[in-house]
Amino acid sequence: MRRPSTLLVLVITGLLTACGGGEESGPRAPAQGGIRLGFSQVGAESAWRLANTTSIEHAATNAGVQLDLRVADGKQDSQTNAIRAFIDAKVDVIAFSPVVESGWDKVLQEAKDAGIPVIVTDRMVDTTDTSLFVTMLGSDFTAEGRKAGEWLVEHYRDFNGPVHIVEIEGTTGSAPANQRRAGFAEVIKADTDLQVIDSRDGDFTRAGGEQVMAGFLREHTDIDVVFAHNDDEGLGAVKAIEAAGKRPGQDVKIITVDASRDGLSALAEGRLNYVVECNPLLGPQLMELVGKVKTGQAVPRRVVVDETAFDREAAKAVLPNRQY
Ligand code: AHR
Repeated sequence: MRRPSTLLVLVITGLLTACGGGEESGPRAPAQGGIRLGFSQVGAESAWRLANTTSIEHAATNAGVQLDLRVADGKQDSQTNAIRAFIDAKVDVIAFSPVVESGWDKVLQEAKDAGIPVIVTDRMVDTTDTSLFVTMLGSDFTAEGRKAGEWLVEHYRDFNGPVHIVEIEGTTGSAPANQRRAGFAEVIKADTDLQVIDSRDGDFTRAGGEQVMAGFLREHTDIDVVFAHNDDEGLGAVKAIEAAGKRPGQDVKIITVDASRDGLSALAEGRLNYVVECNPLLGPQLMELVGKVKTGQAVPRRVVVDETAFDREAAKAVLPNRQY
């Protein structure tokens, strides 16, 4: 690993971290030739993802980090190829947001053998060898699923009789799909009236959410609630519910995760009922970690992002200043 200049250390350690609540802040670091970061992004499937990519690009520019950004197409092979290209290019640090949890050990071992530290961001990898990455920066997806479940339990507290829930899941095998499903199930099992009657992969996209919801509506006449694993899927579900002649937010309650502008707007209009935040503005925190990792400073194994959740009134209050 190359030795950093004193100036570089000062610049990186001077960066502020992103704060929760969907805002990004921090002083501008002067641009300079510095650390070379290879970042492999999942794709461009959602508003969250686009905001995450932009946040990382801006933060890299502000920190003077030379960013080699490769946006995959939601395929693990493309991300593996990108990581191998970063290894060949001998970048200083590799960061990536893994599309699915498992199957990374081989390529991460190659990075380790090449002496290149890896930061996992947004989505966790499933590995028994914790030496394969230095730190993980991202949301607590299980907590997000729990928040969705807590709203539902509270909403139906005084209701007697079955509540039929359908779940539009995120990409099969991805950390947010696995963990949001688990957190939600853990909380709603407290009330046996709350029954998940069907569950399918909507791939975190609007088109996926619409298609899955249209299928649910064809096959089930008694859907009370949709838990969509992100806003885009939930907004797709809104479209399918309206096309079926029902009122989203009234005839069918909808809970989503992310709290993008579009999600919060639909919540403010009453077409969604509750939105759990997943903050994509990870760029400043990522650059801070990149600087520390490159200069050999200690970093926590896990950095969790601060997040909240929104009902209709809370959405109206934050919408004017929402960045994504
Ligand atoms: O990994 C974060 C998830 O991925 C977001 O909730 C979703 O919108 C994105 O596609």
